[in-house]
Amino acid sequence: MQEEGLVTPADELPVSVWVWDLDIDPPMAAALSRWLTEDERQRAAAFVTPELQRRWIAARAGMRGILASVLGVTPGSPVFSLGQHGRPYLAGIDCPYSFNLSHSDNLAAFAVCEAVVGVDVEQIKDLPEGVAAMVFSTAEITALDAEPEARRAGKFFQYWTAKEAVLKALGTGLSVSGRSFTVDVTGAATPRLIEADWKNEDTEAWRLLAFDPMPGFAGAVAVRTTRPLRLELRQWVFVL
Ligand SMILES: CC(C)(COP(=O)(O)OP(=O)(O)OC[C@H]1O[C@@H](n2cnc3c(N)ncnc32)[C@H](O)[C@@H]1OP(=O)(O)O)[C@@H](O)C(=O)NCCC(=O)NCCS
Repeated sequence: MQEEGLVTPADELPVSVWVWDLDIDPPMAAALSRWLTEDERQRAAAFVTPELQRRWIAARAGMRGILASVLGVTPGSPVFSLGQHGRPYLAGIDCPYSFNLSHSDNLAAFAVCEAVVGVDVEQIKDLPEGVAAMVFSTAEITALDAEPEARRAGKFFQYWTAKEAVLKALGTGLSVSGRSFTVDVTGAATPRLIEADWKNEDTEAWRLLAFDPMPGFAGAVAVRTTRPLRLELRQWVFVL
């Protein structure tokens, strides 16, 4: 018999997050471009600098490479369609996984889970002026203002990544405001969604985890589930 309140590994829902460095050299970028569709190559080419072009190629190729290894297919074969607000999903196959990509500066993260998942990584910078007032809830702004000044920027990015991970799991882009829900990041590794004014969404049915993807960056995943999460954080390496 299971003891009340005790979480066993069987109760946990695994969420895999791969992280990788987007700064690849031109020969690697050329090789990885072969995994991309013509549309994707054109999207990469539209970035203004070669460095940004290579980073976008590395992000999309990483997403393809990881999906390929999870699904047992070649990196070039996944066909992506876009949801109403731009969230990519796999077209034409009955995929048992939800996935989501995030990139910031030279870092990418890609999350895969059997339940709906969103991921966000952000480079930790100075506190951006006036942004919290625009996209955080009143409770979050109050909590952030109460932080000692030296810790406020780091805390801001904990809130930001947790909130953005939720928004990315919802897939609604900018159509749902960051002000419409509140996360609590007091338990730094396990943020919680504590309030939301969305229709048909149960705030109890969300689990969040924060992670340190790389020094100087913050990261978070959000999963629509009532099960406790088990984070499997991995480093992705390109093998050609
Ligand atoms: C795409 C979006 C969802 C996130 O943008 P971002 O933070 O700049 O980007 P990330 O690097 O984390 O994620 C980008 C990836 O998410 C995926 N994506 C695109 N649209 C998405 C959507 N609606 N939902 C989930 N994922 C999406 C794509 O794979 C995309 O990769 P690509 O740009 O290489 O195609 C953006 O449209 C958005 O709505 N941002 C909200 C910004 C905001 O106000 N946040 C408030 C936080 S409190």
